[in-house]
Amino acid sequence: MDKMWAGRFSKALDKEADDFNSSIHFDSRMYKQDITGSMAHASMLAAKNIISKEDSETIIDSLSLILEDLQSGKLEFDMDAEDIHMFIESELTKRIGDVGKRLHTARSRNDQVALDIRLYLRDEADEIIVLIKDLLKAINNQAKLHKNAIMPGYTHLQRAQPITFAHHLLAYAMMLTRDIGRLEDAKKRMNQSPLGCCALAGTTYDTDRNMTAKALGFDSITLNSIDGVSDIDFCVELLSAFSTIMMHLSRLSEEIILWSSWEFRFVELDDSYTTGSSIMPQKKNSDMAELVRGKTGRVYGDLIAMLTALKGLPLAYNKDMQEDKEAIFDAIDTVKKCLKIFAPMIDTMTVLEENMKKAAGEGFINATDLADYLVKKGMPFRTAYKHVGQIVGYCIKIGFILENLPIEEYKKFDALFDEDLYKEISLETCVNKRISEGSTGPLSVEKQIQFITEFLND
Ligand code: ARG
Repeated sequence: MDKMWAGRFSKALDKEADDFNSSIHFDSRMYKQDITGSMAHASMLAAKNIISKEDSETIIDSLSLILEDLQSGKLEFDMDAEDIHMFIESELTKRIGDVGKRLHTARSRNDQVALDIRLYLRDEADEIIVLIKDLLKAINNQAKLHKNAIMPGYTHLQRAQPITFAHHLLAYAMMLTRDIGRLEDAKKRMNQSPLGCCALAGTTYDTDRNMTAKALGFDSITLNSIDGVSDIDFCVELLSAFSTIMMHLSRLSEEIILWSSWEFRFVELDDSYTTGSSIMPQKKNSDMAELVRGKTGRVYGDLIAMLTALKGLPLAYNKDMQEDKEAIFDAIDTVKKCLKIFAPMIDTMTVLEENMKKAAGEGFINATDLADYLVKKGMPFRTAYKHVGQIVGYCIKIGFILENLPIEEYKKFDALFDEDLYKEISLETCVNKRISEGSTGPLSVEKQIQFITEFLND
């Protein structure tokens, strides 16, 4: 295909160089945005008498037919085209001749691509927000079902204090609400129209950038034309938000993998989200969670690729910037796939409450509560802490746990100990008496579930 810019050249582009330069195999996914942007531009050109009303209508009608044909598959992308912008424009010119050649007045591919990517990412960010909400819903439902399921809470992966499974899961729900916040926030900064910045310096035509910005749903226009065509901050921001989402999914994946192991057996993933082994008949592997954990590195890689591509780039447009697309598209596809798998995986997961409870009863995780018992009877916390440490050491030596160490033994350590201690250190009391805001106590967990429910209804 002859290049639109061929006029100044005496020789065609080398075949390898042509392929190397071309971006249609990945930027064709922005065809809808490219066409929508061109329609808004054509309307504005007519409104400002830069092209005639008839020409503008012909262009817009033809663009909408091209869109239809692409959507129905009647028209296929020409993989020899340099990029999606060149492809649509040449298809337009093929269909309506010279009139089509008027579309690119007061515009450059530089502001065109800057526009397309913003429109595209705006929609994708919205889709990802919906997918995060689906996952939030699944997490909140499991939390509602397992409000009273006691499990060991860990620090350093050592049993620390009793918590409920709901409280643990809701920690992830909080992370996901922040992830949505980050996407919303990035969207705000991204939602400025660069259309009309042209190549870099603006144009001598009396265009109306606010008109196209409004038609395309932008909040405002970019105020500096050089910045408008060279700003990719929003891709960096989104990739950073995607990386954080993946980091959260990866942490939860890691826990699900651990919890599914025979050593823990806290949860069992549904057969539809697990795989078997080709040799070991007993195996049930958490491949989906492992893959999500693995793909996290890939999304981090996309972020680093983007930052590195931008480092040292002089203003304004440079072809390096074409690299933004593959990185962000890969991250979007990965995040979407992971979220789509994760929500039903959580939703269908069986929670083995008995095993959680059993694990919670084995590890002296009520030691803090025993110390608090003494404190409530008047002992300073540090002294109580020391006493309980000695009792725990003693129990380990003689094969007891705090719940079954006889009261006479307790009394040897301190006279403040009485029969009521057993009730105070029961796992249920430990959880139910946690009354501080945000704690694992039932009131706080209920409040968290309510918060997520309202967040989802907003
Ligand atoms: N395919 C190009 C990209 O994605 C479009 C912009 C090309 N502009 C240019 N001046 N060569 O960045």
